[in-house]
Amino acid sequence: MEFKGRDIISIEDFSQQEINHILDVSKTMEPLAKTGSDMLKGKILATLFFEPSTRTRLSFETAMLKLGGNYIGFAEPDITSARKGENLADTVRTVENYADTIVLRHSLEGSAKLAADVAKVPVINGGTGAQEHPTQAFTDLYTMRKEKGKIDGLKVALVGDLRYGRTVHSLAYALALYNVELFLVSPESLRMRKDVLQTIKSKIPVTENANLEATIPKIDVLYVTRIQKERFPDAAEYAKVKGAYKIDLKTLKGAKKDMIILHPLPRVDEIAAEVDATPQAKYFQQVWNGIVVRMTLLSLVLGAVK
Ligand code: NCD
Repeated sequence: MEFKGRDIISIEDFSQQEINHILDVSKTMEPLAKTGSDMLKGKILATLFFEPSTRTRLSFETAMLKLGGNYIGFAEPDITSARKGENLADTVRTVENYADTIVLRHSLEGSAKLAADVAKVPVINGGTGAQEHPTQAFTDLYTMRKEKGKIDGLKVALVGDLRYGRTVHSLAYALALYNVELFLVSPESLRMRKDVLQTIKSKIPVTENANLEATIPKIDVLYVTRIQKERFPDAAEYAKVKGAYKIDLKTLKGAKKDMIILHPLPRVDEIAAEVDATPQAKYFQQVWNGIVVRMTLLSLVLGAVK
């Protein structure tokens, strides 16, 4: 298992053993996330965000600061030379002179792979279009293991936009490496994309088009996602599914007491605010876990931890 210098592009590039290692190291990062450390002193992270972000960018930057490193970057490509017509490859060839590792978020599928092919420093995928979001999946798995004590044996429902949501694609690939039963709940037009479905169905039991009400009492993890309005090719298509599902206290009747509710956030209206006060709601703990996991990923690819 070698992480130093490695790119993090797709969850499919990781074995179960490697994922477990990332989760184990994350556990040891928890205290450092509170006290801070100088493990990455002198190292610089570049965050290149061509798409909106709150958690992914800020948690990577926070993780770097907590490890004693520093960061540079942009969250508004309009003020960079991309605006003048510079292509992504040239931006990456430039930034690798400034930084020891790069986190990239971009609307184009394949953009992180392209950046990694060009860059000599490790590239971390911070979200590529509707394709993948691997560091969110590591965060989700870490949260499941922390809250439920295990991943094997869990029954998990993925709810919402399974077509355009990149977090559910990465998470589904990862869960398929474990002994997990998966329930997919979505409006008809937002069903899980075919390439992902094919891969996961060959590995674990998957129920597509599961009925939420009937599924709720069976599951250990309810993973809710936002409808990805910005990825719809057509506003009329979005209007048809807008507000198609909402988790509220009524929905949760019949759920196991120790079921947990996760959401990569941002939430729009798919989880009612009244759910936040329930012991099952773990989506803000998930945000904290995102720092811990990203501290792990940075220290692994930069070789500070084995
Ligand atoms: C997600 C994303 O950007 O894919 N956010 C995140 O990174 N936690 C989810 C979303 O935008 O709905």
